[in-house]
Amino acid sequence: MQKQYSQMFSIIDKLEKERFLSDDEFKLLIENTDKTVDEYLYEKADNIRRKVYSNKVYIRGLIEISNFCKNDCYYCGIRCSNKKADRYRLNKDDILQCANQGYQLGFRTFVLQGGEDAYYTDDVLCDIIKTLKEKYPDCAVTLSLGERQKDSYQKLFNAGADRYLLRHETADSEHYSKLHPEKLSLKNRMECLYNLKQIGFQTGCGFMVGSPYQTTKQIIEDLKFIKEFEPQMCGIGPFIPHKDTPFKDFKQGSLDLTLRLLSIVRLMLPNVLLPATTALGTIDKSGREKGIKAGANVVMPNLSPISVRKKYMLYDNKISTGDEAAESKANLEKSMKNIGYEIEISRGDFLSKEI
Ligand code: 5AD
Repeated sequence: MQKQYSQMFSIIDKLEKERFLSDDEFKLLIENTDKTVDEYLYEKADNIRRKVYSNKVYIRGLIEISNFCKNDCYYCGIRCSNKKADRYRLNKDDILQCANQGYQLGFRTFVLQGGEDAYYTDDVLCDIIKTLKEKYPDCAVTLSLGERQKDSYQKLFNAGADRYLLRHETADSEHYSKLHPEKLSLKNRMECLYNLKQIGFQTGCGFMVGSPYQTTKQIIEDLKFIKEFEPQMCGIGPFIPHKDTPFKDFKQGSLDLTLRLLSIVRLMLPNVLLPATTALGTIDKSGREKGIKAGANVVMPNLSPISVRKKYMLYDNKISTGDEAAESKANLEKSMKNIGYEIEISRGDFLSKEI
């Protein structure tokens, strides 16, 4: 027993020092089930995050602009085949109203997230982005609108968008094809990510933990891809089944494994912006706080109009009106303070300082 502990601790020490591990070491860490080892890992991750970002937690106002989607991803509640989804989209005025409310609440980053909805042409989006940047020059605009052509990404960037989130979902192409219809490929996904980075966006990738058919080997591939790609942001949350999707009978991803992966990614990329996701807050009532303690440093409260929040149901029971709501920022502040962290008001860019 004692020997096992010292082996696991030395793997974590190595990860801290070298910011990478061999496949076998990653496997041992990912499959670890010992609480003491997990605690040691979380603490190392939290320490390194404090060196870069001190105890600050960055907040992003999430505006879910549309649940129309042309894609049919097997895991996602807003896939086009889900005829039960009650579809909506926000127009420019709706979005500006959300941003206005968000600004007054103290948000300095707006994240426009939505399905792949043809309504949002480059012209429509560029107009919205320019207006947001004119009205709120001290704010960052983040987009999370799926796969687009490179020239489209370039136009959005030129219009003033700062950041783009596009989870890679899985770095293994066979696994990718088990989660998506044939039309979608890992190759194209990766191309989009490299295009975004090349254009100059602060770029975010990421994946679901415990998605159907996921193996430890594939998680290791995700970690290797993340290390190589060096995203400025990385979204990692548990898979949660949605009742009206082909994956309705699969089990949800594990809280502990999600926390462990947050810590591992923090140790690999000390400067990364790492959200404690809504999905994490959905599977555990203190999930968000646990994520922060394991090395995450971002939370993304929901700024969408209350009337549409229940419609952006990517998975069952997605929380939307509790403390993760933007209106509850005071509660968020309190709960972060309780665990020793402080909400930061500025737009909270990626810090490239060496530590
Ligand atoms: N469970 C957890 N996360 C999901 N997403 C989509 N569907 C689910 C689900 N059922 C995630 C995907 C996507 C992000 C916006 O939400 O990773 O990239």
